[in-house]
Amino acid sequence: MPETACGHRRHPGAASGGIPANPELTCDRRRFLHRVDAERPPTPTKPRTSGDFDALYAGAPPWDIGRPQPAFLELAKAGELHGRVLDLGCGTGEHVLMAAARGLDATGVDSSAAAITIAQSKAQDRGIAARLLVADALELASLHEQFDTLLDSGLFHIFNDDDRARYVHSLATATKPDARYHMLCFSDREPGDWGPRRITRTDIESAFTNGWRIDSIEPTTFTITIDPGAAHAWQVSITRTSGPDNP
Ligand SMILES: C[S@@+](CC[C@H](N)C(=O)[O-])C[C@H]1O[C@@H](n2cnc3c(N)ncnc32)[C@H](O)[C@@H]1O
Repeated sequence: MPETACGHRRHPGAASGGIPANPELTCDRRRFLHRVDAERPPTPTKPRTSGDFDALYAGAPPWDIGRPQPAFLELAKAGELHGRVLDLGCGTGEHVLMAAARGLDATGVDSSAAAITIAQSKAQDRGIAARLLVADALELASLHEQFDTLLDSGLFHIFNDDDRARYVHSLATATKPDARYHMLCFSDREPGDWGPRRITRTDIESAFTNGWRIDSIEPTTFTITIDPGAAHAWQVSITRTSGPDNP
C-alpha cells in the first residue's frame, strides 16, 4: 500500500538526509521545499560539478530510485554482466551493488563524495562486498586497471562536447579488448528541456568510432521519481575492439 501522497512506498533518498519523510508531501513538493530551505543553497537543475551533485544527494535526486534501472536489471538477468565490472558515475550504488550481489568483482566510481558515502552505507546494510571509490570518470587511467563490463546509467549525457570526447578516451584506458560498455542516457525523443542533455543516435555514433563497435542503440525508458515516472532514453551496448594501450 502506498505510504506517500504521490504513491511511492517511500520517497527515494529519504533515508539519506534532507527533508524528513512525510507521507503528506509529493516528490515534487519535497523537491520544491528542498530548493527553498533557508539552511541550504538552491540545488542545481543542470548539475555538472561534484559540488552540484553533492548538493543534490543531500536531498532526493529524481534518478535515485532506490533500485536498479529496469533496463539494467534485464541486462543482468540476461547474463550480460561478466568479469570485472566498473560502474561509472555509480551514484548511490544500485548497479554496482546489483553486480556484486551476483558474485561479480564490482567497482563503482563517482566524483561525488556524498554519493559514495551513501553507496558504502547501502553496501554495509545489505552485506554486499563492492569497491566504491570517489574518482573522476574522465581520468580512469589513474586507476591503472582494466575491466570487462562497464555500466553507465546517466553519466554520458551529463558531459559537454569536450568532456564527452575526454570520457570516451578515458573509457578506452580502462577497458580490456572485447570489453562491453552498456549505457543508458536521455534521448532526443524526450520532449522539453528539463533535466539532462538530450542525446541523438548520431551523437552516440560519432562519439564511439575508432576502437569501438556499436552493437545496439535501442529506445527504452529511464525510471525517475518525479512525474511522469519515466523519461525517454537510449539503451546502448558497445564493444571495445582495441586494447587499453591504443586509446
Ligand atoms: C544522473 S546520476 C546517475 C547515478 C547512478 N548511475 C544512477 O543510475 O542512479 C550521474 C552521476 O554521475 C556522477 N558524475 C558526474 N560527473 C562525474 C565524473 N566526471 N566522474 C564520475 N562521476 C561523475 C554524479 O555525481 C552522479 O552521481
